[in-house]
Amino acid sequence: MVQLRPDPLDLALQLQAIRELQGFAVSNPDPGCAWTGDLNGVWQLHRHPTFASLISTLTGHAAAYLDGLGFDQTQLTLHIQRCWPVVSELGQVVGRHRHPNAHLSAVYYLNGDGSGRTGCLRFFPPHQVNELVPGLAVGHGGPIRADAPATTRWNAPWFDVAPRAGLLVLFPASVDHAVLDNDEPNDSRFSISLDLVLTAPPAAAGGTAEYLAPHPSDWLALHVDDPLRE
Ligand SMILES: [Fe+2]
Repeated sequence: MVQLRPDPLDLALQLQAIRELQGFAVSNPDPGCAWTGDLNGVWQLHRHPTFASLISTLTGHAAAYLDGLGFDQTQLTLHIQRCWPVVSELGQVVGRHRHPNAHLSAVYYLNGDGSGRTGCLRFFPPHQVNELVPGLAVGHGGPIRADAPATTRWNAPWFDVAPRAGLLVLFPASVDHAVLDNDEPNDSRFSISLDLVLTAPPAAAGGTAEYLAPHPSDWLALHVDDPLRE
């Protein structure tokens, strides 16, 4: 997680732009589901002039995340695959899901005061490795102290992050997550999601594809209706 300090004017322009992109749609379309740009044709914010600079800053932190994991960035290319806004109104949620199309995902909050009232982001660990006794994490008067702080309950079945304006959260795209209810009647919840993919560098630049997929510029799209067409 990285806490950025957004410029108030930039922030206002970004919020206004999202409302314009959203148009009259307010859900997905189930009224209980937040509006997400990826399902509404708004998934290339990185090409939008109001967001390009911000997205560039965010992807810089993604590169730092990879660096922290030990990736040699001369041996890979990091791509933005898609980038979309999410707006959650009172009572709306985003159901539990993951991003199997990507490797690294991120969310950036345009508003939020850190209280979580507009809906926390909830991560579900893929394995309860600290659940030494099966079923322990369910609770119900078990041996885990009820007053143990959430951050020290390493066997907790989930981990919640409260939105705060300027907060960037990077996470493996394979990790299940959800957005909890927005409980604020007068506060829409605004965020921007990113999906990032790692490939080898282009073959022309000496990229080799031992573990990573080849660079998309080295792919050949097939025309299934006319296989001989190039
Ligand atoms: Fe997601």
